[in-house]
Formats: sequence, C-alpha cells, structure tokens
Amino acid sequence: MAAAAPRRTPATHASPDRSGWVDRWLASCADLDELRRSNPMSDAVIDEIDGRRIKIGDRWLVDFASCNYLGFDLDREIAAAIPRYVERWGTHPSWSRLLGSPALYTEIEEGLTALLGCDDTLVLPTITLIHLSVIPVLAGGGTVFVDRRAHKTIYEGCQFASIRGTRIERFEHDDAEDLERLLRKDRSKTRLICMDGVNSMTGNAPELPVFAELARRYEAILYVDDAHGFGVIGERRSEETSPYGMRGNSIVRYFGESYENIVFVAGLSKAYSSLAAFIACPTEIKQLLKTAAPPYLYSGPSPVASLATTLAALDVNDRRGDVLRTGLWEKTDRVLRCLDELGVYTPNVSGFPIVEVPLAHHEDIGDVGRFLFERGIYVTLAAYPLVPRHEVGFRVQITAANTDEEIDKLTDTLQELAVAFDLQPAGPRRNEAAA
Ligand SMILES: Cc1ncc(COP(=O)(O)O)c(C=O)c1O
Repeated sequence: MAAAAPRRTPATHASPDRSGWVDRWLASCADLDELRRSNPMSDAVIDEIDGRRIKIGDRWLVDFASCNYLGFDLDREIAAAIPRYVERWGTHPSWSRLLGSPALYTEIEEGLTALLGCDDTLVLPTITLIHLSVIPVLAGGGTVFVDRRAHKTIYEGCQFASIRGTRIERFEHDDAEDLERLLRKDRSKTRLICMDGVNSMTGNAPELPVFAELARRYEAILYVDDAHGFGVIGERRSEETSPYGMRGNSIVRYFGESYENIVFVAGLSKAYSSLAAFIACPTEIKQLLKTAAPPYLYSGPSPVASLATTLAALDVNDRRGDVLRTGLWEKTDRVLRCLDELGVYTPNVSGFPIVEVPLAHHEDIGDVGRFLFERGIYVTLAAYPLVPRHEVGFRVQITAANTDEEIDKLTDTLQELAVAFDLQPAGPRRNEAAA
C-alpha cells in the first residue's frame, strides 16, 4: 500500500515578479529541494509518538533519526520531575543569565563539572549560540585552525571570528600532520584549533590525545564540540560494562585526557533530551565569557522544564546510565554486525550509535528514502550538497529506547534494501575494542 501523503511544513509560493536570485539560489540546492518536496522523510510533520515510534500522516514508523541516545526523552522518572520545578520557578525565567540566573544553574554547573572532572562549566541555551559567540572571543584576532569536516555550526562561529580579523586555516579531516604543518608556520599571538568530538555523520571520534598534544606544544587551545559523544562515551575502567566506557562523561575522559589547553563544548539536547548546552573551561575563562560572549547577557535562557530534566537526567545518569549505555552498545552492535554480514560499507569503525550507509549511486537517494519509509523505517537522509556526492545515503541513529523488535525490523529492512539497491561494498572493519 502506498503511503498516505504526509502533511508538510507549508511551501513558500514564488511571487511572479520575484527577482532572479531566488531561482539561482534554489538551483544551487536543487537536489536538496527536490528531496524536500518529493520525499516523505524530509521536512515531515510528526503527528504523534509512541515510545520510539512516530506517526506521519496515517503511517507509524520506527524512529532511527533521534539523537536522544539514552532515551531520556521518554524516561518516566525524568518527566515526573518537571512539575515540581515549574511549580516553584514558573515555566520560564525570562531574565538573561547576567540579569538573574535561577539557582538551578548553579546546581547544573556543579553537577556537570563533577561529572566531567573539569575546572568549571558555563551553561548557555544551545551549542550554536556557544560557537557563534565563544569562538570569536577565544580566537582573539589570531588564527583558527578548523577541521575541514567540522560541524556547520563551528564554521559559522569561525565566520564570525573572521569578520573580527581572525585568520581561518582549514586542515584535512582528522589529520594531525596537516594541522601541524599549518601550526608550524603560524606566527599569531593566539591559536584556536576547532574540531568535532564524535562525528555526527561517521560516528567516529578523532584521536584526541594527538590533537591535545599538538595544542599544548604549539600553545594553542583545542576547542572540541562533542554534541554526540557526551552522555554516550566516557571514562574507561577495568570493570566497564561496555566499550563505550562509563558515566558518559565524553570524549576527553574516554581518552583519559586532562583538560589542559582544552575548551570542551557539548549539548544537553541530544543524550540528555533538554534544551541547554555548556562549555567546560577554567573559571577565569568562564568569568570572561559572561561578559565577552553575548548570549550570557543578551539571549533568553533555557526553559525551566529543560533545567529540571537536566538535573533529573544527571541523577538518572549516575544511577542507571551505564545500564542504558550497555543496552545502547548491544543494539548498535547488532546493526553494525548486520551490515558486516551483508558486506555493506559504513564509515563507522567506532561502534558508537551513529551508522551512516552511503549509496553506490547518489541518484537513488529519493527511491531509497521512499523504500525505507514504506517499510516503516525513519532515518536521516544525507543528500547532496549536505554531503559530497560519494557520501550520499542515510544515517541511522540508535537510542536506548529502541526495542529489540525495532532493531529486528531495521536489520530485516537493511537486508531487503541491500537486495533492491546498490550499496557500497564493505570497507575497513570496526575497531576490535568497540566490536
Ligand atoms: C556536532 C554538532 N554541533 C552542534 C550542533 C547544534 O547544537 P544545538 O542544537 O545545541 O545548537 C549539532 C546539532 O545537531 C551537532 O550535531
């Protein structure tokens, strides 16, 4: 049965006398725009959820596009914490943080600082706001060295920095040698190296100790965005219950690194299912950022419900986080083993819960999206120009709230997909440690 036409966000209608720039702009994003118009998995309106299932139009699908890695969005204990905070604090503190921070922020920042084992933390509403405001301050008119595949929001922060006179240098993705080549010839007073932690497309992490060592040797700050690692990976211990490590205290602790010369950024809106983000940095930098980075003074804060769910999530993470992470690893491992057995390539060599499957022929993306949708599997489509043409495909994200039956449905569908379409043949195997 064909899928009922799902509701969409309203299309914008061209006015007959609009100038040519709209057409030129649409032409430059034609693949993406075509996908948005023609594919039920792009720009969809979700009418209802039930666990990790979502309803679009009259069709129920299993959601493998969620970043709620620990399933905290559906956790009854966390949801039940909200009313007592709202009762006490109202729904929303509309002061900017400099004008007045509810004491909940102190509790959250102390909780995050203890979990991460860093000097201090500063909470702001989103990572995007942090990059836009903090990168220009830390760059200080010197040079920013940015990984070619760093997240788009890091690039936006770099662009703001460049408006203020900072030089921008790009180094090849995850390539410490290329970075060192650029560092060696740089004569700036301040140097900032910007990169992702766990990569949002490949699911892999950079060799952080190598980059941290370079930052220390060349008197640079290593600025790491671990939006996808925080809550999922953490400190390694002999008694750990999964290869993700323990406590979900992120890539720095996963690699047993110190915070020397590292400014660490992560969000709570993925694994912690709350609208907030934070910077882990020395206290002097935190105090400086309160006035030098605009959002602390000029932007609205996170809603009370999100401060409440963050506090509840920190507590649940302490008590049950490692059990959830172990389940998450097992489910992800099943998906990766299925691809291995099918001989299908994924760039994921880490075992972390982001599994991208590139297509052999990028033109198939629309049909592949519809094929998955019709079988009740909801994923993120990675279309050109968001990714290069040879990486066009789809991304599966696994969360602790996905049931074993949902993973069965995914692996059955991947088997069917591998028969119906050409996928890229298997490449390097996963790290033994994470497999
Ligand atoms: C690596 C990375 N950084 C930053 C962001 C943006 O985070 P926020 O929504 O907190 O601005 C995302 C969101 O998907 C991301 O994947």
